[in-house]
Amino acid sequence: MLKITGSLVITIALATPGISQAMDAAQLFGSKCSACHGPKGEGTQVGPALKGNPFITKGAPADIKKVIVAGRTEKEKKYPKMMNPMPGGLASEAEADALVIYLQDEMQK
Ligand code: HEC
Repeated sequence: MLKITGSLVITIALATPGISQAMDAAQLFGSKCSACHGPKGEGTQVGPALKGNPFITKGAPADIKKVIVAGRTEKEKKYPKMMNPMPGGLASEAEADALVIYLQDEMQK
């Protein structure tokens, strides 16, 4: 009985790589993003809210990823009241992929 349970757990873990990815992304967000966007993505004076933000909930993953990798500065800026830009180079391509999944899924719950 125990043996069966064990193999089931392994099968589920292998079939859903998104689970571990989401956990890594949560850590990444905590260390690289939460200072400006808030620990739960609720926003601060220096970064817009990402939770409940239509750009995240309804946006295309590719558009979100672009902001994460390249940042958003100067003329591209969407929030003129926030003096600072969104810095680029905070995350690698792979980290950004994981972060997009985290932002669109985990964070919105
Ligand atoms: C130094 C503060 C700062 C840090 C750190 C930061 N951001 Fe930002 N972020 C901003 C600001 C400011 C904007 C808004 C820029 C603008 O005016 O369009 C922004 C915008 C965004 C947007 C677009 C939101 C929208 O409504 O268009 C996303 C997505 C985002 N950030 C994700 C992240 C992620 C993921 C990280 C961590 C890898 C991160 N940010 C780290 C300040 C920051």
